[in-house]
This record gives sequence, structure tokens and C-alpha cells, in this order.
Amino acid sequence: MQTVNQIDPLRKAVTALRQDGKIALVPTMGALHEGHMTLVREAKKRAAHVVVSIFVNPRQFGAGEDLDAYPRPMERDQAMLQAEGVSLLWAPDPRTMYPAGYATNIAVSGVSDGLCGASRPGHFDGVATVVCKLFHQVLPDLALFGEKDWQQLSVIRRMARDLDLTRPYAADIIGVPTVREADGLAMSSRNAYLTAEERAAAATLPRAMQAAIARLVAGSTAASALASLQAELREAGFASVDYAELCDADSLASLAKLGDEPARLLVAARIGKARLIDNMAAAK
Ligand code: PAF
Repeated sequence: MQTVNQIDPLRKAVTALRQDGKIALVPTMGALHEGHMTLVREAKKRAAHVVVSIFVNPRQFGAGEDLDAYPRPMERDQAMLQAEGVSLLWAPDPRTMYPAGYATNIAVSGVSDGLCGASRPGHFDGVATVVCKLFHQVLPDLALFGEKDWQQLSVIRRMARDLDLTRPYAADIIGVPTVREADGLAMSSRNAYLTAEERAAAATLPRAMQAAIARLVAGSTAASALASLQAELREAGFASVDYAELCDADSLASLAKLGDEPARLLVAARIGKARLIDNMAAAK
């Protein structure tokens, strides 16, 4: 596996890899875990070469968020990617990504505004901006993102459609289903913040979401199904629920009940020191 930190060697390396067939990009901020490795394995099935980017993107961190404390275990990450058969690691530094005088921002309105966007103003602008740059730098045939961050995936797909991107086309932005622990809890580096007791209680989140979906499918309104979900979470020991919403799966517009269009249930809730997010398809 080759590691490059500058744009010119990146372009040369990508041009050479392209001789063998399709290139898949897996964008990350490093501190890799099983969720990232699942994306890499899925990418390998779909392309001749996998390029992984590691860039801790300052533009998606708000004031008071943990940009400086964000883990950067580069040697460990490199070893994991090498072992998984990744062809190229693109690891620019902030000055390469955002040279002096950098002034362009991509804001994807609507889909960025609610849910996590409401409590993290500017976050999804930062994500859209860096992902658009990564797409132009690597020019991948396809790119893979975890469905765990459904709102992020929706923002990126919207941006690709709106800007008529061709490498990758919006249709080649692949969402990979959330990897779950045996008890259903979505895998996340944040689960490590939980005590044993909180970790056991956290499994209520996916169970309560499934129960809410069953109620929606049976004809409940979103208001009623989500009130029960919130009550179940509080009873299990969650301190608060930041949001629990039934949304159109594509636009993320809030829905009052299940209809014929694909819908998604999205929740963010706090337990102990962790803020857990999860989402599931809600279908009749
Ligand atoms: O999901 C992430 O790790 C980041 O938001 C991404 C997509 C790599 C952009 O910085």
C-alpha cells in the first residue's frame, strides 16, 4: 500500500491504478474500527482498487468540539489498511486540503438543517465541502459511506446530484448497512464511553426503534409511536433524547405517518457520557 500526502503524487498514483479497472474511495477521519473495515471490504468487492482517505477535517468541527483531542493513530490505521489490501492511502495535511486563502464552502440546504444539523450548525457544510474536494482529488468510480450516518449520506447524495458530479455519479455513492453488535446496538467508537451498566441499557435503543417501526406499520401516527419510544429510552436509563423523527428517507423531511415513499426513523439519545445515533428503514 502506497501512502501519499500531496496532490501531484496522488494524481499519478490514481492514474496508474485506473489501468486495472474501477477505483473505490472510502473517505474516513482515521481512528479506524470495524465499521470502516466493513466499508473497505465492500469496496474491494466492487472495484479493482480501494483508495482510503484519512483526513481529520477541521471544517466539520464546531467551536468547543474535540478537533484537537480527535485520535490520530496513523501507524495503526496504516497497518489495518495494509492488512485489508487497500491500494492507496490519501492522507493530506490541513494546509494541503485548505491552502492559505481557501474561501469556498458547499452548503446543502434542507437536508442538512434538522436532526444532527440543528445542534451542529455548519457541520454538514464542512462534510459536503471536504467530500466534494476528496471526490475531485481522487476521481473515484464509486464511493462508500456507512448508513449509520444517514444524514451525512443524504447530504452527500444531494450534493452529488445538485452539482452533477460524474466521478462518482450520485448513483455510485454507496451506503453500506450499519454493523451491529449481537444485541443490536450499532457499532460506534462512542460505545467505548459507556460503563458496563450503560452499555447493557444502550441495547434498548435499537429494540425501542424496532418497536416504534412496528407501531408505525400498524398505523400509529409518528407522534404517538415516537412518544412511546422516548418513554422506553428514559425508562432504560437514557438521560435525554436529542431527536426521534420519522423522515422521508431521501429529503429527510419530517413525516406525520408512514406513507408509500421510503421512510427512515432517526434517533439521537444520550446515555452516560455518550450521545448515540441510530437509524432504521421504516416500511409498510
Ligand atoms: O464520516 C466521516 O468520517 C467524515 O464525516 C467524512 C465523510 C470522512 C468527511 O470528513
